[in-house]
Amino acid sequence: MTELLKRFALLSTVFCLLVACSFEEKDIRIVEDFNFDWSFKLGNHPEATKLEFQGSDWRKLSLPHDWSIEGEFSEEHPTKPEGGALPAGIGWYRKTFTIPEAWVNKLVSIEFDGVYRNSEVWINGHYLGKRPNGYISFAYDLTDYLNFGEQTNVIAVKVDNSLQPNSRWYTGSGIYRNVRLVASEELHVAHWGTYITTPKITEKKALVNYEVTIQNDSRLIKKFKLETKVYDANDREVGKATTLEKLYPNKSLVKASDIEVLNPKLWSLEDPYMYRIVTRIYEDSELVDNYSTPLGIRYFNFDAEKGFSLNGVPTKILGVCLHHDNGALGAVANKYAIERKLSILKDMGVNAIRTAHNPPSFELLELCDQMGFIVQDEAFDVWKKKKVKFDYSIDWDKWHKKDLEDLIKRDRNHPSVMMWSIGNEIREQFDKTGITITKELVDIVKSLDATRPVTCALTENEPDKNFIYQSGVLDLLGFNYKHEAYEDFPVRFKGEKILASESMSALATRGHYSMPSDSIQRWPPAHNMPFDGNDDFTVSAFDQVSAYWGSTHEETWKTIKKLDFIAGLFVWTGFDYLGEPIPYPYPARSSYFGIVDLAGFPKDVYYMYQSEWTNKPVLHLFPHWNWEEGQEVDIWAYYNNADEVELFLNGESLGAKSKQDDDLHLCWQVNFQPGTLKAVSRKNGEVVLEKEIHTAGEASKIELVPNKEQVKRDHYDLVYVTVNILDSEGHFVPKADSLIHFEVEGGGKIVGVDNGYQANLSSFKAKEIKAFNGKCLIIIQSNGKPENIVLKATSANGLQAGEIQINVD
Ligand code: GAL
Repeated sequence: MTELLKRFALLSTVFCLLVACSFEEKDIRIVEDFNFDWSFKLGNHPEATKLEFQGSDWRKLSLPHDWSIEGEFSEEHPTKPEGGALPAGIGWYRKTFTIPEAWVNKLVSIEFDGVYRNSEVWINGHYLGKRPNGYISFAYDLTDYLNFGEQTNVIAVKVDNSLQPNSRWYTGSGIYRNVRLVASEELHVAHWGTYITTPKITEKKALVNYEVTIQNDSRLIKKFKLETKVYDANDREVGKATTLEKLYPNKSLVKASDIEVLNPKLWSLEDPYMYRIVTRIYEDSELVDNYSTPLGIRYFNFDAEKGFSLNGVPTKILGVCLHHDNGALGAVANKYAIERKLSILKDMGVNAIRTAHNPPSFELLELCDQMGFIVQDEAFDVWKKKKVKFDYSIDWDKWHKKDLEDLIKRDRNHPSVMMWSIGNEIREQFDKTGITITKELVDIVKSLDATRPVTCALTENEPDKNFIYQSGVLDLLGFNYKHEAYEDFPVRFKGEKILASESMSALATRGHYSMPSDSIQRWPPAHNMPFDGNDDFTVSAFDQVSAYWGSTHEETWKTIKKLDFIAGLFVWTGFDYLGEPIPYPYPARSSYFGIVDLAGFPKDVYYMYQSEWTNKPVLHLFPHWNWEEGQEVDIWAYYNNADEVELFLNGESLGAKSKQDDDLHLCWQVNFQPGTLKAVSRKNGEVVLEKEIHTAGEASKIELVPNKEQVKRDHYDLVYVTVNILDSEGHFVPKADSLIHFEVEGGGKIVGVDNGYQANLSSFKAKEIKAFNGKCLIIIQSNGKPENIVLKATSANGLQAGEIQINVD
């Protein structure tokens, strides 16, 4: 080839590449983040629905937003400490926006992922509707009421959370989940319009059944090509189906196709491999809609004798129940907050989440798909019979069918979702109405998804007294608590598949310890087991206290781990949550049930689970080593992957021990002398791990430990910074309670502070907080500025300040 020809060849390759790039498909469906530029005002403001309303004194904010978490704690709030002792009431949101001329022929809708509760929505003064359920996702069609071009539009949303109490836990108030604006062509995929199942999976191929609902909202008959493609995680096309269709005006069509994926890579807990399916609609070869649905290829089975298996591998469900709040952020559904929560749990060995007791956020499910968790997706805490005065029972008759249908339609494509729960501890289990309602709900679920078992979390374990069980239509029986009875279940519930849907309800405050550590206590005192309580509203973190209906962590886990027919368990709860501060009255205002505290700091029992539920080497030694001279102190160690643990005090051996029988921890009683406590775990004589705890001196400096090095400049990303109080030697000071003041500069802003103390009444939104048992937390969010974040932490009582920089992308 001559030089000229070579050049020409090169140029034409570059040209082709450029052309290929310029032809790269653009999304024709427009999905806009609609969270920014809202205004908000507490109280009732019906005048705000009008286009001409000014509202100049309204506060500007971004969604998602929870106004309850911004309030002050008070026993007087009608939410009561059970609901978090924070204000509720009524609030209005308003947003003025324009729509480009180019959208004149498009369909425009607004999607709300969750509004707590009783939301009512107006567009340009037109009433769109009401949605009482505070956890359900919904959408409204705005098309007929919009102004285009420079003329503005106004969306107004009334949120009414004033009827109290309406929940047994903290709910938050407001538009606390994401909002989107969606614009599509008149011929389009319907809202939640796809349903994917994988009816046959072998090593060689997976049969993917794909159902899509297409809607023709135009006045014309539409002829079109429907193309469905499956892409792997590297965006390579691995399957395809194409058909030609015809659709009359204002009609919809459900089209099912089978697509084969060869050598499928399965979705598993260790490697949650995701494909995606894209539907494209072409009219005369012009793309008019594209719609993407995630796909995970996996199969699972519940067995009455062998429990649960995933992709043929026997797998115990090692789950935790989670409420929806994100601690200091309140109900705000921020994906980075949820991701942190799930990472902490994943590290502990958790493989399943029960969304107690309501539809979760979209982000939680998306993250469970991506991170590899099994989800029990739960619909209700009550049916017709109430638990608290104004709970969902008042909306039951009118809304339960629609709410349940919408939950299933929204969530049925998530590979992580493997069970539908139609309720938690439902009152109707005790009377015959339980039979009728269970049948109705199971029918609703099955009509929309027959690939997952339907379960319900029951408390009554006498078959003839439990009418939900007697309906005979549950695929999987969930039982809450009463683990002593489990052994008998294969006889009592012959042939049934069984799961411990809720267990333990053990209580603890991070960093607080009462001796002797083996005095098991129940709240309220039951079966001669006292509950002594502490004046400072703390509960010992030696796993020794629980609600009387539950048990300590060790008690129930010892039972469940031995029973193969039990598919697994969900511990109540993974994290502390706002509200339900059993065992104390106000000022206690958040729960004690978490394995991790409200700020995200693990309590000691976290490591018991880690030693049992993971294969990573664990050696956790506690409590701290700051006691009265001569005091007898119990020292516990959780460990695994070792034959023995030897304990040393100031270099002197206090003996080696190993767990006997079904022990889950070791214990030594030692008379306190200041110095260093050291544990060494060994296997076959080789050291596996060493741990040291030092007697700390006076608090002397502030250590800042961020959970990430880099923050995205997207207005959403969060960095959680742990504050540790150290002495002059750098040892953690276990009782430090210094007041820490924060200053943040650059690309971030403070969105929450916490210390995990269940009776702390200072604001989550303050710029300062007292350390509790040596620790506190600050949460910083990207403010969109392209500057690194600088965090300074100071304390008035002479501590050496802490300062860190966090990079912003
Ligand atoms: C259960 C209930 C949970 C929570 C828990 C506290 O009975 O299902 O929602 O209240 O008790 O122990």
